Amino acid sequence: MLEVIKRSRLLMMTGLLSVVLAGCSGDTEANVAEETDNEGTEEVEPDAEDTTDEESEGGLDVGIILPTRDEPRWVQDEQRFMDALSDSDYTTEILFSQGSSANELQNVETLVSKGIDILIMSPHDGDAAGAAAQAAADEGITVIAYDRLITSTKAVDYYVTFDSVAVGEAQGQYLVDNAEGSDIPLYLYAGASSDNNAFLFFEGAWSVLQPKIEDGTFVIANSSEAEALSGTAELTRDEMGSIMGQITTNWDPNEAINRAQTHLTSAGDDLKGDVAILAPNDGTARSIADTFSADSDITSYVITGQDAEMASIQYIIDGKQSMTVFKDVRRLVEDAMGMAITILDGDTPETTGSYDNGAKDVEAMQSEVIVVNQDNVKAELIDSGYYEASEFTGLD
Ligand code: BGC
Repeated sequence: MLEVIKRSRLLMMTGLLSVVLAGCSGDTEANVAEETDNEGTEEVEPDAEDTTDEESEGGLDVGIILPTRDEPRWVQDEQRFMDALSDSDYTTEILFSQGSSANELQNVETLVSKGIDILIMSPHDGDAAGAAAQAAADEGITVIAYDRLITSTKAVDYYVTFDSVAVGEAQGQYLVDNAEGSDIPLYLYAGASSDNNAFLFFEGAWSVLQPKIEDGTFVIANSSEAEALSGTAELTRDEMGSIMGQITTNWDPNEAINRAQTHLTSAGDDLKGDVAILAPNDGTARSIADTFSADSDITSYVITGQDAEMASIQYIIDGKQSMTVFKDVRRLVEDAMGMAITILDGDTPETTGSYDNGAKDVEAMQSEVIVVNQDNVKAELIDSGYYEASEFTGLD
């Protein structure tokens, strides 16, 4: 797998991709599905000297659909796509579905009508997105699922993703590594059940946490379903679903606050004090952390996250969030666009494995993740050029 990854990076470095990458100017405002007039969207036409065979005259080459602008994670993806595409010849357009499968389908129809050959889509709801993927596939368009798998459909060709089970494992491991003593109250939170990733994150975290629940290091504080399954090392999807039904945030920071408040209100003194919190991503982690901080019976907490959102990097620097899992979106964009261009060139993209989406095994390109806490935040996120030091306060 590593070899393949290295090779795809090498391709980027040779400049091959930058020659043909799609045009989408850096200051482009991606439009939202509700805006049917496409105002604010810019397309860059292919250069006259475009020498590729895949002439795209009069049409758009690649359509990109992201789930929502309401979470910094996806605004970051938009920015990284625009950075990668600023200098290239294929045309692209980025649309947001704003947390609605109906918008998503409309976005696909819009892009199909503009003649795309490739659709890169991160679905709002994995199952519901099947109809949108099918609408594209019916027109002979290659569908690439981006970060989130499109599920229960054959109408998806490839999947570009991070190792989501490893994200959950890293979160669980962080809580284990920072656990002192026994009977530590463990508060579990999860993402939206409509997102396949939420299951993968939980599966990874559970695989690490469950033995430590069984040996008495942790005591589950907020899920009777998880307690009932605490002797089970490998959960079925249905079992995970029953736990997630009690602890889901739906990826919504406000819902996370409500859940956390309800859990803290019903928790006795034995479930307060020094606690551990599995938070599925940065947006929910900040809300949950704030809610726990406001409870005077919580003396300390260790809390996880993911996405390396800027606000959470500041929380980590300030000691308000313990860790995040850094998923380098530049890398995901590079893989997705590399795959798109390979297909536009008439070749078969390289993959590193496959994911069962319930209807087929989808060939996938997967990349690794990095755990970030106070110790390495500067090295991983500033020194690497991902963020500017000036965007934060209190960095040494
Ligand atoms: C993504 C996470 C993101 C979450 C909520 C997941 O599918 O992998 O990075 O935080 O959705 O948008």
